[in-house]
Amino acid sequence: MPRPGRAGLPSQGEDRGDTSAGLRLPGNRTLNASRALVTGGSGFIGGHLVDRLLKDGWDVTVFDGTPPGGAGAPEREHVRHVIGDVRDAGQLETAAKGADVVFHLAGVVGVDQYLARPLDVIDVNVSGTRNALSAAARVGARVIVASTSEVFGKNPSVPWREDSDRVLGPTTADRWVYSSSKALCEHLTFAFVRQHGLQATVVRYFNAYGPWQRPAFVVSRNVHRALNGRPLVVYDQGEQTRCFTYVDDAVEGTVRAALSPRAVGEAFNIGSMTETPVREVVELIATLTGSTTVVTPVDTARALGPAYQDLRRRIPDATRLWELLGWRCGTTLRDGLTRTIEWARTHPQWLAIPDSGADGQAQSAPASVRQSDGPRP
Ligand SMILES: NC(=O)c1ccc[n+]([C@@H]2O[C@H](COP(=O)([O-])OP(=O)(O)OC[C@H]3O[C@@H](n4cnc5c(N)ncnc54)[C@H](O)[C@@H]3O)[C@@H](O)[C@H]2O)c1
Repeated sequence: MPRPGRAGLPSQGEDRGDTSAGLRLPGNRTLNASRALVTGGSGFIGGHLVDRLLKDGWDVTVFDGTPPGGAGAPEREHVRHVIGDVRDAGQLETAAKGADVVFHLAGVVGVDQYLARPLDVIDVNVSGTRNALSAAARVGARVIVASTSEVFGKNPSVPWREDSDRVLGPTTADRWVYSSSKALCEHLTFAFVRQHGLQATVVRYFNAYGPWQRPAFVVSRNVHRALNGRPLVVYDQGEQTRCFTYVDDAVEGTVRAALSPRAVGEAFNIGSMTETPVREVVELIATLTGSTTVVTPVDTARALGPAYQDLRRRIPDATRLWELLGWRCGTTLRDGLTRTIEWARTHPQWLAIPDSGADGQAQSAPASVRQSDGPRP
């Protein structure tokens, strides 16, 4: 038997019809905004998700270990903030009371992180997700669990459908800690669906980028370096390809997954299907920022050692996202980069934080930029 819907959410089994026509229920009713708990809401994707939910009239509580407003991210009004650790089951459940949807995005993310803190990656991602699922089950909320394209590992058969195989390297390489932890999070999610009837959905992001992302990823780091007058960085020859997904597109897919009964018990690849070599992205960043510095190739075998292994190609098959939820991640790379760079130019606080990377190329921002760090918005 499907559970009754809460606060405007459809119950399991209801169908909202043509998803491409907007978020509508049968009878042409628009879904009401509801109460959301967003773990990781002080982070990059979580922060953009919070803004989107607020715009749509949701009542939002953020649960995060980090206070809001860091590194140029907006300090938002009309949001409750709970500073907490997702590994603390009791604290998380208390925060989840009254929520209709738990968006679980808290996690330890990034190559620099999983090489430096593999144990924290496992602990936070796995026990945090276990706790978020338990909390959602106890309070009767729907839950969206953020996962990653990394779960597919180095499967050479691209594009990856949601049910494509996982192909990983050895457990002695810390590189696979993140992938494995997130895969276990997905198993936990589906186990809760099967054993407890939880209304849960997995969303797998593919190389999301956009304003206020920590400067530790291909786009954010190179935008940060270009605007700080530093050489841009590519790993190896930059021939590896990725499908860069503008954050607003990722957020739209996430919200649609939360509102659609079709999404319950499913995983969705949320990513652009446009494959771009990393070197091209870095060259485009140089063009759009006017950077004239030379691109520095990083030999990952030498800089990062055997704990790291790069992936040749990473491409989603996002057909399910389109067929079930009516959404395509369509922002072009040029448009998304332009918006990201425009934002970065006007946020000296973000430019002043050190760029991160596990490859020895990271440096703190120059004093001139640090001194211009004004009050946070
Ligand atoms: N950015 C991407 O391209 C990408 C790709 C695939 C998947 N994801 C997933 O999306 C989610 C959000 O990623 P993001 O890029 O916004 O990362 P982020 O690092 O910007 O945000 C993660 C947030 O989680 C919080 N957090 C970490 N440990 C915590 C703990 N123990 N308790 C409470 N809060 C904690 C951090 O303070 C941070 O605000 C993550 O689950 C990540 O694995 C991101």
